[in-house]
Amino acid sequence: MDTPVYAPAERFLRAARGVAVDRPPVWLMRQAGRYLPEYQAVRREHSFVTCCTTPELSQEISLQPWRRFGMDGVIVFTDILMPLAALGLAFSVDEGIGPILAPPVRTQGDVRALRTADATTAFGYLATTLRGIRGAVGDQAAVIGFCGAPWTVATYMVSGGKGADPAAVRQHLLQDHAFRTALFERLVPLFADYLTLQIQAGAQVVQIFDSWGGALSREEYDAAAAPALQELIARVHRQTNHMAPIIVYCQPGQHLLETFVAAGADVVSIDWRMGLRAARERVAPGAQQRGRPVALQGNLDPELLLQDAATVRTQTQRMLAEGGTTGYIANLGHGVIKTTPIENVQAFVETVKTYAY
Ligand code: CP3
Repeated sequence: MDTPVYAPAERFLRAARGVAVDRPPVWLMRQAGRYLPEYQAVRREHSFVTCCTTPELSQEISLQPWRRFGMDGVIVFTDILMPLAALGLAFSVDEGIGPILAPPVRTQGDVRALRTADATTAFGYLATTLRGIRGAVGDQAAVIGFCGAPWTVATYMVSGGKGADPAAVRQHLLQDHAFRTALFERLVPLFADYLTLQIQAGAQVVQIFDSWGGALSREEYDAAAAPALQELIARVHRQTNHMAPIIVYCQPGQHLLETFVAAGADVVSIDWRMGLRAARERVAPGAQQRGRPVALQGNLDPELLLQDAATVRTQTQRMLAEGGTTGYIANLGHGVIKTTPIENVQAFVETVKTYAY
């Protein structure tokens, strides 16, 4: 069959909208980061937060994996906790300790004490970075913006980011309904403006990371986390005229697929605990009900990239065969692990790029 070859950005956006393509687009969560020596070189000179807030540095780090491997998507280098600076919270990353966020936010009084900032002023640096990335890649990659889901970011706000007992944090958020509502009333409009700003500055697709939502049961998630996610998606689509498809990521999230479709996700990211074929069947009824397709993203286990390149190729091919020919974006089921050999990232990307429908 004579299949047209699409420019990477077009291939990515078509797949995200469920339209036919020549092969799946490919990118990796955490593709910019510590497994790359060129990232480590920048980090030796600058703190993590400086890398995020300085457009030249963030742009350089975002483009590093793309220059090496030529993925179809470039995700902007920042963090789900960065927008909290607009609320007056300080964020830092320490090697071996993980993210630290201060002060913790645990009561309605703490929520009232949060600062209010205008997104355009607070995130001007990010708009500059995104415009730079878009200019640098042209149509040779889709530019991906992102934010954290309200539930996941709230989890970090309550815990302060280090050492807090995850069960206690979860129970506090689940049980203190008034606190949770007050907190989400601040986070949802902030994140909607944050994603809107990214889309207006050149992000063609955005991903919402709900890294901690998967610890909830379906019932808990539907009651406590889904309404804020749904409101966030609706606001972004309303504010941008549905210009950019929204990917929802959660792992483990196989018990929440129908919820993500009902919340308005255009693409649902799947982890390795569930097959892509089974996931496709699960999202189909919801897609039909709302009258627009749901694409899938995923789902290779990032630990397979710690094995040898031959295994990566075989397992990636198996994944691609399951992914189907429309509405599928090749990715891992979670972020690249920092000890991943570079040649295995290469093997993953090359296997997708040489695959043809
Ligand atoms: O390449 C990309 O995917 C873009 C950049 C990106 C980062 N964080 C950079 C980063 C993205 C999309 C994120 C999202 C993020 N951040 C999530 C959701 C995804 C997931 O993994 O579940 C979460 C939960 C966070 C919060 C966060 N920030 C964590 C858990 C860490 C790691 C802490 C540690 O020291 O291991 C960070 C810091 C962070 N964000 C790093 C990077 C590259 C490491 C920074 C460094 O030490 O150089």
